[in-house]
Amino acid sequence: MIAVLPGDGIGPEVAREATQVLDLLGLPWEEHVFGAAAIRATGAPLPDETLEACRLAEAVLKAPVGDPEFDAAEIRPEQGMLRLRSELAVFANLRPAKDGEIDVLIVRELIGGLYYGARGVRDDGTVFDTCEYHPSQVERVARRAFELARDRRGHLTSVDKANVLDTSRLWRRVVNELAADYPGVEVEHMLVDNAAMQLHSHPTRFDVIVTENMFGDILSDLAAAVTGGLGLAPSASLGERPPGLFEPVHGSAPDIAGRGIANPTAMLLSTALMLEHGLGRPEDARRLREAVALGLEEAPTPDLGGTATTAGLGAAVRSHLT
Ligand code: NAD
Ligand code: IPM
Ligand code: MN
Repeated sequence: MIAVLPGDGIGPEVAREATQVLDLLGLPWEEHVFGAAAIRATGAPLPDETLEACRLAEAVLKAPVGDPEFDAAEIRPEQGMLRLRSELAVFANLRPAKDGEIDVLIVRELIGGLYYGARGVRDDGTVFDTCEYHPSQVERVARRAFELARDRRGHLTSVDKANVLDTSRLWRRVVNELAADYPGVEVEHMLVDNAAMQLHSHPTRFDVIVTENMFGDILSDLAAAVTGGLGLAPSASLGERPPGLFEPVHGSAPDIAGRGIANPTAMLLSTALMLEHGLGRPEDARRLREAVALGLEEAPTPDLGGTATTAGLGAAVRSHLT
């Protein structure tokens, strides 16, 4: 069973296109409430039943969450998402960005760093978030990145801020220690500010990028921007064992929600990543990617300069799957 989390904003709109593809492929799925919708229904963004269903699922296919109504609230949709990632222990977040000659794979550490470190308020009113990494957290994600680089073009860029941060110096040391185990992979280290500039100006110089949680969040939106935009950017979050979590890089896009014009491509390509990495169906994944490419030529959505609706592009994709 595939657990589908339709999420908020454009989430349900793009999730509908993905579940129609699952139906076409004869794959069973079940929807569970999550995010702002779940806060409204149950008071919690990740209800126990949803978490349990995700744990038992073969894979989790998640649409974006987030709602301006809760931006300043005590209980927020995004908290459910951070908890889900950590409960499923999906430490390696693969964010591929491809367009023409550009073929970058960002491997973002997903369940450590600033997002999960100690936080609080001091007596004087100072608010703090801390960036923390244990060497084992760096090692497991770096190993995954080395393995992926070995199976691609053999080049790994480790991105950090080692000129300032102790966690970055730890990151660099662990990556250097692992390099001996992967003689076929050439490693370079790059500071994150320069990495942002290079991703913009020379994106073809990158193969695999491995980096900590917050840097990976920011660089992956940038990588999406240089390869056609957020509407096209999928991701796969993997741990040591299933279920993996598959979701677009983009958010719930409140500015266009409810208008039926969201680009479902990121969600459909996340579905392809799920077929490949989560369900062991590489042939279905290949067919879906091909159908998406053909669909995009015929029916591009407004973010790509076209006029197709979400449903229109979804239907074009499905027409190439049958
Ligand atoms: P966003 O990614 O939702 O939107 C950024 C811009 O990209 C907007 O102009 C939006 O219209 C456009 N866009 C994004 N996806 C698109 C698509 N599929 N088709 C066409 N246009 C698209 O980022 P934001 O506005 O900063 O965040 C909105 C909410 O989403 C926030 O609550 C945030 O926390 C949440 N969020 C959730 C996830 C997730 O669930 N994985 C990821 C990012 C942001
Ligand atoms: C993403 C999103 C999330 C993140 C937010 C919504 C918590 O921006 O998946 O890229 O920062 O991980
Ligand atoms: Mn992000």
